[in-house]
Amino acid sequence: THCILIGAPIDEGQRVPGCIMGPPAFRVAGLGRVLTSLGHTVEDRGDLTPAAPADLQHDNSAIHHLPEVAAWTQALSDAAQDALPKGMPIFLGGDHSLALGTLSGVAAHAAAQDRPLFVIWLDAHSDFHTPQTTVSGNLHGTPLAYAAGREGFDPLPAFPAPVPGENICLFGIRSVDPAEHALLQGTEIIVNDMRVLDERGIVAPLQEFLARVREANGMLHVSLDVDFLDPAIAPAVGTTVPGGATFREAHLVCEILHESGLVTSLDLVELNPFLDDRGRTAKLMVDLVGSMMGQKVFDRRTRSF
Ligand code: ARG
Ligand code: MN
Ligand code: MN
Ligand code: MN
Repeated sequence: THCILIGAPIDEGQRVPGCIMGPPAFRVAGLGRVLTSLGHTVEDRGDLTPAAPADLQHDNSAIHHLPEVAAWTQALSDAAQDALPKGMPIFLGGDHSLALGTLSGVAAHAAAQDRPLFVIWLDAHSDFHTPQTTVSGNLHGTPLAYAAGREGFDPLPAFPAPVPGENICLFGIRSVDPAEHALLQGTEIIVNDMRVLDERGIVAPLQEFLARVREANGMLHVSLDVDFLDPAIAPAVGTTVPGGATFREAHLVCEILHESGLVTSLDLVELNPFLDDRGRTAKLMVDLVGSMMGQKVFDRRTRSF
């Protein structure tokens, strides 16, 4: 695979300082080296710089940094559309508001190719607020609602080709605000919260969804929020929630995603290196990308008996 690394040091989608250091931390933790060692080619396009923010207003005065986030959304959408014909973009965040841009770029590309888009959202949170419903005012809590075509995002560019609910699958969910819950009830979105993972495990629901992606010849965007992981193994995130995915659950998801051969783009978001413990969260995220791109302990497929 030709891997295109795109740094997006956006931290205006939330209020804990530090996500701006995410892209260099991924690089220092060896993301490029790991991908190269797995036989991929790596093109690091450096960090994006958004255009100067326009003077945008919103009736919800709680919204934090809307003009900055809107400028990032445009820059990221353009960057995604530019990268996709050439390889697999891997976006190094930056907070999760970057997915407003990556999803809109990926959706525009998929629509132009006449292929359906599917989204896997690995997160403690459903990120299904609109700018009208958000209580925190933090736009990192909104990208999925934007991609699903909810209303109320007016000052942002209109989302190209909204993703049908049944094409969106969440894993690891354990923090959903009441307004998000109400909005999600009206959709076909597949919400695999921690209860589902406890009862069924992560493999069956993931394979079910991947079978549908394969059957539809879909593109598959994966958005990996650090807080998908349990805070005991991944402390470097501003929005920790107890009871997250274990080390093995996370690797297993990534290994299965690799074997599916379906992933066409990836977000790595919410890494806050300022909160890390000797780089362990950054290194774990890089290891997980390794698993998603073919790293395995023992390759059973090449055995000859
Ligand atoms: N639902 C909460 C909010 O709107 C938390 C969102 C956390 N999102 C994230 N990408 N970490 O503020
Ligand atoms: Mn700020
Ligand atoms: Mn998130
Ligand atoms: Mn989250």
